[in-house]
Amino acid sequence: MISLSAFGYEHKLKNAMKAFENTFKEKSFINGPAVQKFEKKFADFVGAKDCVAVSSCTSALQLSLLALNVGPGDEVITVPYTWISTVEAIKQVGARPVFVDINEHDLCIDAYKVGDAITSKTKAIIPVDLYGNVADIDILKKYNLPIVQDSAQSNGAIYKGKRVGGLSHLTCFSFYPTKNLGCWGDAGAVTGDERYCETIRELRNHGQSNKFTVKQVGWNARMDSIQAEVLLNKLPLLDKHNKRRREIAFMYDHDLSDIVITPTVNKNSIHVYHQYVIQSVHIDKIKSALADNGIQSRTYYPQPLNTLEPYKTNQTFANSLNASLTGLAIPVHQYLTNREVKLIIKTIKEAI
Ligand SMILES: Cc1ncc(COP(=O)(O)O)c(C=O)c1O
Repeated sequence: MISLSAFGYEHKLKNAMKAFENTFKEKSFINGPAVQKFEKKFADFVGAKDCVAVSSCTSALQLSLLALNVGPGDEVITVPYTWISTVEAIKQVGARPVFVDINEHDLCIDAYKVGDAITSKTKAIIPVDLYGNVADIDILKKYNLPIVQDSAQSNGAIYKGKRVGGLSHLTCFSFYPTKNLGCWGDAGAVTGDERYCETIRELRNHGQSNKFTVKQVGWNARMDSIQAEVLLNKLPLLDKHNKRRREIAFMYDHDLSDIVITPTVNKNSIHVYHQYVIQSVHIDKIKSALADNGIQSRTYYPQPLNTLEPYKTNQTFANSLNASLTGLAIPVHQYLTNREVKLIIKTIKEAI
């Protein structure tokens, strides 16, 4: 089976077992010294003032909104074409998601349309770096609203020469096992403005500023130390892995762009291809041909979120709808061999 993601290849890591050994020796299983070391390294890596490690990107989004004082009566602008967490977090803090369609090119938020959705209640914008492409942050900054960038899929990506993580007020990352920088369970981080990060540091640990000093209602959203050990091991490899993803994407672009729509890279960004999503009216045929050859593929995402019951609106977002009907993710992870890539290309060509 040629899988969609790289998490089946952990045996390729050098000294992987050290993560267990170090955690066992340290005996500080949650939020231990490895977590603090990772926070420092990750902040340096992305060029951010601060980094707070948390239990997932979903909690990173929730706590970021809380740190910005977003709550009932407020509105937050985001896209309907993303993983559920983005919109779920807005609802969980009591605010109302206001959807702006993705643009038809890089499939990130249509930054020029955001202005039409802003009201006196708008408290933040959450752009999503879909599939590893970076949303057009500089256009969004012109609206003078806090930006919580959902960078679950764009770890290591670059926008106008700067690393994702140091561009917006707050940036939320996921280290879920399938992500470009993935650990062995759930984990995430927020990077950005120190004032907000300090609040998030307290919120993630039951609102405590010091042990038993509680100034606000908090959450249990801490990172496990073993996940930090895994991330410390893998962070130095991220650029190399992303480079290999780009090489594979280049092969696909070259050989497939005549027969399917291949991804458009935002001209200001260096894409990290968390997913390589082709668009075609023939995705069912392609999907079944790939499956017959033992190649995994998946529809991302099968429905715009505003068509799901908890997030329903009576709007239609043409680009999101089109992306959901025509998109298919094919394998692009760093451990694919050129032979496997060629087999994937051949299978797609023969399917249509
Ligand atoms: C765009 C986006 N946002 C948020 C998340 C949530 O990440 P986590 O699973 O770490 O909570 C994901 C995960 O797939 C994602 O793709």
